Amino acid sequence: FTIAKPANDPFKGYLPGSPERTELKAELKRQSEQVVRIPLIIGGKEVWTDHTIKVTMPHDHQHVIAECCMAGETELKQAIGAALEAKEAWEEMPWEHRSAIFLKAADRITGPYRQVLNASTMLGQSKTVFQAEIDIAELADFLRFGVWSAQEIFKDQPLSTDGIWNRQDYRPLDGFICAITPFNFTSIGGNLPTAPAIVGNVALWKPSRTAVLANYYYMKLLMDCGLPAGVINFVPCDGADMSKYVIPHPKMAGFHFTGSTAVFQGVWKQVGENIASYANYPRLVGETGGKDYIFAHPTADVEPLVAALVRGSFEFQGQKCSACSRAFVPASLWPQVERGLKEKVAALKVGDVQEFDTFMAAVIDRASFQTCKGYLDRAAASPECEIVAGGTCDDSKGWFVQPTVIRCSSPYYESMVKEIFGPILSVYVYPDDQLDETLKVCDTASPYALTGAIFAQDRQAIVKMERALRNSCGNFYINDKCTGAVVGQQPFGGARASGTNDKAGTGLNIIRWLSAHAVKEAF
Ligand code: ALA
Repeated sequence: FTIAKPANDPFKGYLPGSPERTELKAELKRQSEQVVRIPLIIGGKEVWTDHTIKVTMPHDHQHVIAECCMAGETELKQAIGAALEAKEAWEEMPWEHRSAIFLKAADRITGPYRQVLNASTMLGQSKTVFQAEIDIAELADFLRFGVWSAQEIFKDQPLSTDGIWNRQDYRPLDGFICAITPFNFTSIGGNLPTAPAIVGNVALWKPSRTAVLANYYYMKLLMDCGLPAGVINFVPCDGADMSKYVIPHPKMAGFHFTGSTAVFQGVWKQVGENIASYANYPRLVGETGGKDYIFAHPTADVEPLVAALVRGSFEFQGQKCSACSRAFVPASLWPQVERGLKEKVAALKVGDVQEFDTFMAAVIDRASFQTCKGYLDRAAASPECEIVAGGTCDDSKGWFVQPTVIRCSSPYYESMVKEIFGPILSVYVYPDDQLDETLKVCDTASPYALTGAIFAQDRQAIVKMERALRNSCGNFYINDKCTGAVVGQQPFGGARASGTNDKAGTGLNIIRWLSAHAVKEAF
């Protein structure tokens, strides 16, 4: 084993006149002037179906950029067959040869293919250039750290004694993996089928219909880099078909998911109902909802706190699972924090991602827009709420929701406890002498536990808050925003209703796709 621990891919700046900016502008123009026809990819072959969906740009919802085939019963059954057929050869391929495919893909992503993925992520998912760049860099990181983590796992061997040689053989799971991926990160879309494949598994991949363009380009890249036919089968489809034809299959050995808590719990129940018919107990790995917070102590520095609230809540329209959507601010700091939020939010540029100074673009689709609008309408009418900034939305061209701050008089008001997944920050201003009670509310008011941040300068306060909030998140930040975990630096994932906390991009995740086989040989 020879791979050194990788470094994170550095972000490019896209400054005016830079070569990367020129290349990306050209690629954005090219992609926005075409309608890509997206087939399924089953057993390495393109499969065209009559059931198709149109893919539009969230910030310009009449503008179609792709038309995507959808798999039905026949194609999903074919995909399971293709995956199982590919399994033996893939599993037996020497580890370094499998790894070479993914390392080559990472080099292409950070090299010549970068702008193809950036542009499709910007147009299809309404990401700004900065948000797309960190997403695509993360995709390469997932591949490099995934391969390295696998190597570290394989190195771990049991103790041998005189005359006894003990070995551990790390086998891929005995069946196929089902990967269902979200719209909000091209990197997560790519990682969920790939992480199990790095260690020899085969997979069916159902991408989100709103991220399918960037996901399709990634799938093509893997094939170009030599991924054998059938190892990953790209099957956009309706969730109902996945649950009918794929989840209950006896050879469904693992489920790798990022998406809503409701869908993950539905799959878990379905697996439970079918448990006796599986060849193995399926491994269920999910990263689901969040109600992430920033909690300020009276000793917090206001300027970085306000910056963290704005960036944490509104970057990518609040559609990161890690995004801040509730804040607890002491009454003594509120006047300064309120002033800062009003000023900063009013200055945010909301618009088209092709203008590189845009800070926030559109939410992903009509359903998301309607959800946000419902919260805004109810807050405007509620005596428990005061709209501090934003509060409006407009769907005439794209699904635009203004960055909004709502002050709630109750820490249990609906927008303080329910996941919204949009650019709406709810704030509860607590009396300075009620820190302990408010920490308890923060810990218990929502069922989620994904990310959380505290701001404080007093070290005793930091110790107390960290302890009080220990189980309220999987990723905890001190004096920083609650988003932006970096692969290899802040292993990402949450507990409670936020998921199984099998930290993406680490050995803790990779090991879920392996089934150890202990071998003892006596001499
Ligand atoms: N890993 C992403 C973040 O931390 C979701 O923001």
